[in-house]
Amino acid sequence: MDFELSDIQREIQRVCREFAARELTPNARQWDEHHQWPTEALKSLAELSLLGVAVPEQYGGAGLDNVSYAIAIEEISRGCASTGVIMSVNNSLYCDPVNKYGTEAQKEEFLTPFARGEKLGCFGLTEPEAGSDASAQKTTAVRRGDEYIINGSKNWITNGPKADAIVLFTMTNKEAGNKGITAFLVPTNTPGFIRAEPDKKMGISAAHSCSMFFEDMRVPAKNILGKEGDGFRVAMSTLDGGRIGIAAQALGIARAAFEEAVRYSGERKTFGKSIREHQAIQFMIADMATEIDAARLLVLRAALLKDQGVRHSSESAMAKLYASEMASRVANKALQVHGGMGYSKEMDVERHVRDARITEIYEGTSEIQRIVISTNLLKD
Ligand code: CAA
Repeated sequence: MDFELSDIQREIQRVCREFAARELTPNARQWDEHHQWPTEALKSLAELSLLGVAVPEQYGGAGLDNVSYAIAIEEISRGCASTGVIMSVNNSLYCDPVNKYGTEAQKEEFLTPFARGEKLGCFGLTEPEAGSDASAQKTTAVRRGDEYIINGSKNWITNGPKADAIVLFTMTNKEAGNKGITAFLVPTNTPGFIRAEPDKKMGISAAHSCSMFFEDMRVPAKNILGKEGDGFRVAMSTLDGGRIGIAAQALGIARAAFEEAVRYSGERKTFGKSIREHQAIQFMIADMATEIDAARLLVLRAALLKDQGVRHSSESAMAKLYASEMASRVANKALQVHGGMGYSKEMDVERHVRDARITEIYEGTSEIQRIVISTNLLKD
């Protein structure tokens, strides 16, 4: 077993770390406070080929592996968790399924400009009554000649307010249950596509999400992604990759909180010495570092399996489950190390607590990850 990163992986880590320290960390607090979409940072990510990290170069991507992708998401999220999730959704939830299931014509229109970062993608699975129970899709697509007429709604769609296209899941045959779900590639300027105002959220405030509505929206049959009735498999296999991205995002948030706690523990003095000389603080730092490393090993294992083309549903679910809950524990401990200052908006650590929390919910709650893991373990 080899724990060494390759030269390319180390290089992407260095580039992303320096970019995050220069462009993201100094701005993340104010973007959060003003709910400001990180427009300039996303342009820079595009220039660095970070919006299609694992997309082949022929389709506008960087052509790197998924380990590199996970490393990049950790570093970017260490600087700004909002930027991290915008990047993760475009890479994992949008480009990845188009690359895997798209035709050549679809890739030309719906992959290359998105992997280059000229356009932005989103993923429309969640509905008001189909969150954890993703197969309960109510949005319908009814065939009329060479087109489908789509009616329904989606909510909590990350990147939704800005996206140029969506991988949209619909019910084409209700009687067939999860075998009646079909995915479409839909430009967001299609007549009948309506977006609500951005959601008001507790954290990742610079990454906008929204509800959307489809009113008699006509989409050509050639825009079906994969086969008719294959949408649930497209969604689930996509989430196997997306959960690696969110786990890596959680890792980045945890590292940010941890590094700030370590720094503060050297500055703050109580009882005549710096607080890092107290064993209570030392033990918290030891626990945080151990949990971060454990999570990183799970993330890298899942990414490596994806690179090897091996089914990695359980491993991705374990990585996301552990990394997300770890990020909340670490961010809370980091806040505790900061004492009263940790509760202040003058410090970044309160943002890390808020940002960490969502990683336990989106792309499948912790409870859903436990279902995926136990179902795979207990099947005959
Ligand atoms: N890959 C390929 N196929 C898969 C699969 C996978 N990972 N997982 C399941 N399938 C197949 C199964 O093999 C099965 O096929 P057969 O019927 O042929 O045997 C079929 O799909 C149905 O599988 P299940 O019986 O396991 O399906 P289920 O209805 O019980 O649901 C679930 C399983 C795990 C609970 C699923 O509904 C789920 O993951 N829910 C959570 C949804 C979620 O993560 N939503 C996040 C939205 S995106 C988001 O959050 C974006 C954002 O903002 C950042």
